[in-house]
Amino acid sequence: MIDEPDNQHPRPDTFEANRESDDLNVRDVHGAILREKADPRDGYEPIPLWLVSLFMALVFWGGAYLAFNSGGFESTVFNPSQVSWAGGGAAAKAAPDPKVVGKRLFTANCVACHQATGLGVAGQFPPLVESEWVLTEGWHGDNHLISILLHGLQGPIQVKGATYNGAMPPWKQLKDDQIAAILTYIRSEWGNNESPITAEQVAKIREESAAQTEPYTQAQLQAIPAMEFDDAAAPTEGSAPPAPDAAATAPAPGA
Ligand code: HEC
Repeated sequence: MIDEPDNQHPRPDTFEANRESDDLNVRDVHGAILREKADPRDGYEPIPLWLVSLFMALVFWGGAYLAFNSGGFESTVFNPSQVSWAGGGAAAKAAPDPKVVGKRLFTANCVACHQATGLGVAGQFPPLVESEWVLTEGWHGDNHLISILLHGLQGPIQVKGATYNGAMPPWKQLKDDQIAAILTYIRSEWGNNESPITAEQVAKIREESAAQTEPYTQAQLQAIPAMEFDDAAAPTEGSAPPAPDAAATAPAPGA
């Protein structure tokens, strides 16, 4: 028995080699177990890479869509009471309804004297409702109306058979399209029904009356031949190019 130690006890010269191969065996066996994944359970399979990429692409597209189409989340785009007829968004911004703009500008600049009703104040501020100045009847032309808005009006005037003798300040500091919007508004409000005034028409009169430094008098205006802008030839509202602004920044003489 003592002579047969080989089975249990390796001989000293092979001992190291055997121990190494035993270590390898242990690592191989356990490595195989560690590499092995548990069987996927139903409903818990890992998400395929293509699906993750699809989700990421969708989120990116959604963000881009919002960035381009949200209209800046402005109330003028999403609040129905503030959206003009054009359907909101960039189109409405580029071409706002002149009557909506006109009403706002009228409220800001004109109501103090002519009142929100357009009826003015008897004996002090003449009415705009059915005024021959606004509806351009008799000797009054569109050019006269635009002229008094640009340069003001002073001295005795007749409106609807009554005489007023006050002074209206000039509004040349407003832009062409703003004056056009105000006039379009007062010509279509309170039962008034006259053609719109365009920014081009205001620009034309602004240029022609550039020499005027004082508010007009009625006599002065009567000496200027009346001009009626052809309704049919009037360019589409809102299509006016940006107005030349030089006159608007100049100090108003006589103001
Ligand atoms: C400070 C008061 C005052 C303000 C503000 C004012 N007006 Fe006048 N407006 C007058 C007076 C006064 C007259 C008459 C001038 C005269 O007697 O010579 C007049 C005359 C007019 C006329 C011609 C007469 C008529 O009744 O049709 C028009 C049109 C007019 N204004 C429009 C406007 C518009 C549009 C605005 C706003 C941009 C405006 N006015 C702002 C005081 C004012």
